[in-house]
Amino acid sequence: MVILEIKNIDVYYGDLQVINNLSLSIEEGGITSIVGANGAGKSTLMNCILGAIKPKRGKINFNGQDITSQKTFEIVERGISLVPEGRGLFPFLTVEENLILGAISKHAKSKTRENLDRVYSLFPRLKERSKQRAGSLSGGEQQMCSIGRALIAEPKVILLDEPSLGLAPIMVKTVMDTIEQLAMNGYTIILVEQNVMTSLGISKKGYVLQEGRVVMEGSGAALLANDELRKSYLGV
Ligand SMILES: Nc1ncnc2c1ncn2[C@@H]1O[C@H](COP(=O)(O)OP(=O)(O)OP(=O)(O)O)[C@@H](O)[C@H]1O
Ligand SMILES: [Mg+2]
Repeated sequence: MVILEIKNIDVYYGDLQVINNLSLSIEEGGITSIVGANGAGKSTLMNCILGAIKPKRGKINFNGQDITSQKTFEIVERGISLVPEGRGLFPFLTVEENLILGAISKHAKSKTRENLDRVYSLFPRLKERSKQRAGSLSGGEQQMCSIGRALIAEPKVILLDEPSLGLAPIMVKTVMDTIEQLAMNGYTIILVEQNVMTSLGISKKGYVLQEGRVVMEGSGAALLANDELRKSYLGV
């Protein structure tokens, strides 16, 4: 079943068009990767799905409903959460205070304790550090905290914008393993990465963005084997 469908969107910042007639069709479950160079429009696309930026043309459907003109909190309430580029934590708030901020809807608020416990069982490290300021966590732990905050909203679809950025190789692996675990737990994952090889390796499907357009799409394995992609993005 298609859970998220983006149809022919055009997105502008002022007069500057950064997304051009872009369409994506995301099947429920598993990991879909969006890859592309700096400035290709990946973060813009994520923010657009979340309703933080509105497309000038085109439509976004989630679970069969048109969400194009809905507000971000309504979209989060329906079941889409973003783990933003740069993690977006409040460094002077504690880990737990940051996590709780993810509970936006009435429903999620009423289940905060239960959802916190779920996040803590997934990330025991966060439980140990729940009263510590988020800014004092390591980069990898901060990423876990940001993912935990997204989970508190009880999403069906999780958008992850460059979760491995700036992390040591060992932490990159931990974060990627966590993302695979989330997919195994039934979440639908949309993963934006510059770490093209690793992300396509764990994805059932991938889209390659270039200057706001989809220039290639296919299964993760097919894209990894594609000579053109290997030359232009993997340098091999
Ligand atoms: N608020 C903004 N106002 C004007 N232009 C913007 C704004 N945000 C992004 N852009 C421009 O839009 C284009 C797409 O940016 P975007 O952040 O979506 O790219 P990206 O693929 O996420 O890049 P990166 O890999 O560096 O994160 C870039 O040319 C960028 O300079
Ligand atoms: Mg970006």
